[in-house]
Amino acid sequence: MTTLIVNIKQLCNVRAESTLLRGKELATLPCIENAYLIIEDGIIAGFGKMKEIEKEKLSIENKIDAADQFVLPTWCDSHTHLVFAASREDEFVDKIKGLSYAEIAAKGGGILNSASKIENCSEDQLFSMAWKRLEEVSKLGTGAIEIKSGYGLSVVGELKMLRVIKKLKEKSNLTIKSTFLGAHTYPLQYKENHQGYIDLIINEMLPVIAKEKLADYIDVFCETGFFSIKETETICKAGMSYGLKPKLHVNQLNAIGATQLGVKLNALSVDHLETMDDDAINALANSNTIGTLLPTAAFFLRMPFQPARKLIDAGCAVALASDFNPGSSPSGNMNLVISMSCIGMKMLPEEAINAATVNGAFAMEVQNELGSIAIGKKANLFFTKPISSLAYLPYSFGNNLIKRVMIKGEFVS
Ligand code: NIG
Ligand code: FE
Repeated sequence: MTTLIVNIKQLCNVRAESTLLRGKELATLPCIENAYLIIEDGIIAGFGKMKEIEKEKLSIENKIDAADQFVLPTWCDSHTHLVFAASREDEFVDKIKGLSYAEIAAKGGGILNSASKIENCSEDQLFSMAWKRLEEVSKLGTGAIEIKSGYGLSVVGELKMLRVIKKLKEKSNLTIKSTFLGAHTYPLQYKENHQGYIDLIINEMLPVIAKEKLADYIDVFCETGFFSIKETETICKAGMSYGLKPKLHVNQLNAIGATQLGVKLNALSVDHLETMDDDAINALANSNTIGTLLPTAAFFLRMPFQPARKLIDAGCAVALASDFNPGSSPSGNMNLVISMSCIGMKMLPEEAINAATVNGAFAMEVQNELGSIAIGKKANLFFTKPISSLAYLPYSFGNNLIKRVMIKGEFVS
């Protein structure tokens, strides 16, 4: 089927080539004013200025009038924990009342709380909850998403989560990437026996994951009190031997050299980055590894935001993602992520949009099919309500400015 979209006020992020954006390039957002776009069988087949459209194209029957609307490629959310069994607003209230992280953990809170909930949840129940969240975020403009395991923390639990993600991949129109995060925290029974849990990951989980093709990437929460540098390296190397590239949780709480380890392992991305020292920034700037910033997690945990300006100015390639999870970012709204990156981290609107589209696509290795407007890419687009300029999107924070979302050429209902 062929669809023609006419009178687009501004067609945004039009790029002939997909290149990972860094430095000043991140602030350039190529757009066409008063544009048309042609879609064939869910794929972008042409576009240009309205005044230059050939007459015969105007006779395409299936026509959509996008007068007053900006059209953008959908968000590429490259870091989420969208599969979880229960929310954790009780911990949220405890924190407001002044309880520390340790006190909340002692009450059975945190990642282990989510893990105990997964245990009692069937694959079908988990799937239907995750499906609803996926539908919600797609209506908010997300067209590609990475989803992690990490609340299983046992062979059965981790495989259950990864099988749910696999089913989401099969059933959803969204582009989905799957990450194995068995090394999210040590389960209680392995608290004093780290090697025992690492053996479980390497000998019991990874071979099944590889055999059933349950993951695209491997992740480790590399922090003081979680997985050390040495443990992280061991686990990543085991994953890499099965072809899983690392995408790591680093420098959220402490600067222990985790970013440098990610760079050394040629990780696809290192994510969080609230606590970056000069060494970590230099290592990242001189690498192909993407730095994924998660401003809503910093906001929710009342932590200092990631030093986006320093990272961009140093030449790091940065992406933006939601970190959607019940503990540190119970929202998968990428529009809010964009606003927070501008408000809290002083990213320019163009930088934020590029980081959440082009660079987000690179952080999931889907840059050849998504992340910008180009012939041959998937027609995953969102149409805005009437807005005065692109900067209005982050400026008008918390307001839903998306009129409709298209995935593979079809509107999401
Ligand atoms: O990315 N930092 C580690 N993991 C998650 C939060 C986990 C949780 O609290 O459930 C994150 O913020
Ligand atoms: Fe995370």
